[in-house]
Amino acid sequence: MKILMVCLGNICRSPLAEGILKSKAAAANLDWQIDSAGTGAWHAGEQPDPRSIATAQSYGIDITNQRARQFTAQDFDRYDLILAMDSSNYNNILQLDPGNHIDKVKLILNYVQPGRNANVPDPYYGGEGGFERVYGLLEVACERIVEKYG
Ligand code: 4NP
Repeated sequence: MKILMVCLGNICRSPLAEGILKSKAAAANLDWQIDSAGTGAWHAGEQPDPRSIATAQSYGIDITNQRARQFTAQDFDRYDLILAMDSSNYNNILQLDPGNHIDKVKLILNYVQPGRNANVPDPYYGGEGGFERVYGLLEVACERIVEKYG
């Protein structure tokens, strides 16, 4: 299984999603390829946000070796699943779809509450429970992903 996590900047939410799913896949002995990207390019080449690094670290997950990159149309062929953190990311991804890849693009929280189309809140500017809340949402979603495809 090849899974790409996608948010806006690829420094806050999708790096956490990548780190959490890699940790769960390794614990379940799954040979999965997991990566992340952002629809925007502003932070390309950067480490995850220090707040994401610290939150992951507090749960024993090291994401310091990740580097941000921008999502490209080639990713549609490289991955089996492209998981958007929010509906804006989802729409931005599909705008780049050259063919019919809509079936592999999903909102990640629909693995927790199918059909609800809930968003992982953007923690970059603070608010809404911040990085801890993001971590909790992604932890449950990644658990469901391992249960479903593992
Ligand atoms: P992310 O958060 O999409 O979860 O990585 C953001 C990071 C940076 C920006 C926006 C959201 N930004 O505008 O620079």
